[in-house]
Amino acid sequence: MPSPIFLFVVSLPLLFRLVPMVVPEAYLEPYAWWDAKTLNDGQVGWRNMGWWETTDNFSLAAEALAGKLLDFADARPGGNVLDIAHGAGESLALHLSTQPPPVNLHALTSLASETRQSKDLVASRFPDTTTQIEWFTCSATYRTGRDIDHPLNPMRGFLGEKKRAWSDEGEDDEGDDTEEFEDEDVASAGPLRYDLVYVLDAIYHFKPSVSYFLAQVLPTLQPGTGVLAYTDILPPPKINNVLGHLVLPPLLSVPARNLMSRPKSLDEYKALLERIGYEGVEVQDWSDGVWKGFASNLSRRGGLWRLVAWLVSVAERNGWKFIAVRGRRPADTGAGSLVGE
Ligand SMILES: *[C@@H]1O[C@H](CO)[C@@H](O)[C@H](O)[C@H]1NC(C)=O
Ligand SMILES: *[C@@H]1O[C@H](CO)[C@@H](O)[C@H](O)[C@H]1NC(C)=O
Repeated sequence: MPSPIFLFVVSLPLLFRLVPMVVPEAYLEPYAWWDAKTLNDGQVGWRNMGWWETTDNFSLAAEALAGKLLDFADARPGGNVLDIAHGAGESLALHLSTQPPPVNLHALTSLASETRQSKDLVASRFPDTTTQIEWFTCSATYRTGRDIDHPLNPMRGFLGEKKRAWSDEGEDDEGDDTEEFEDEDVASAGPLRYDLVYVLDAIYHFKPSVSYFLAQVLPTLQPGTGVLAYTDILPPPKINNVLGHLVLPPLLSVPARNLMSRPKSLDEYKALLERIGYEGVEVQDWSDGVWKGFASNLSRRGGLWRLVAWLVSVAERNGWKFIAVRGRRPADTGAGSLVGE
């Protein structure tokens, strides 16, 4: 007679297939559960693993990691920014406080609750912002024919959509209440191109795979200057098949391809971006500034957090890397041909 544990383990694959069929997707997003309020103190809502070299405070570490990624991106300031998976909106506040602030800020998250929270955050902290903000609640990758209004849709802006733009009439500006918007047909001007696409601590969740996403972003960047910058978690070269295919994907809400079909080293990672068409590619290992401080802050909270902290330290010992990546669109790319792997 097989043991109950054996029965449970062999039925896991079936369970993982059934659960998404009956439970709405929003409930399966780990971030719907991982509440920023329990991690931060004070009024901030950060949610990333943090950069801990100068602090042991979760909120400050998370803010430091966001700032570090923005510095690393080294994008042209005052341009067009797309922030994907901005969570409760703290990273949007970061973009809005750069000098000069972005002209356009596009904010994408898969959760309607996060769009709402972020709108409130921006409205309360930047009531007078001159940045044109657009909100998108959808999946990070664009699905052809389904997400017409997705910021990564290469045809967006070619479809004759009307877009609100500042009327820049010069001197007779009489304060905030009289500022006017004008309908401007942007189709003739071509689609908006990003100077920065910024993805903090989320890309490993993206379906169907990280490299598919990388190929989708490239044609939306400003030729010659537009930069994609993100942090990623790179699994060790060898992961147990059962762990990588069956156990971790539903547990971490990460597609199996983002665990099993990954570059084996930082050099291979760089080569992947170059193959897709990026130039000026940099890949840095930030593990030392991230894992230890994150695990230590969590473990001192006690309870279930200690289990999470323990898992983080196991991951670190087994060679999981926390990395930062940036790449630029070349000046004359015929980008977008190489989608997928
Ligand atoms: C941690 O940083 C946040 C944000 O700056 C602050 O509100 C909070 O008081 C700090 N917590 C501690 C324990 O210092
Ligand atoms: C962890 O971060 C929280 C929230 O920022 C802070 O209040 C707490 O003091 C930190 N814990 C330790 C042990 O540093």
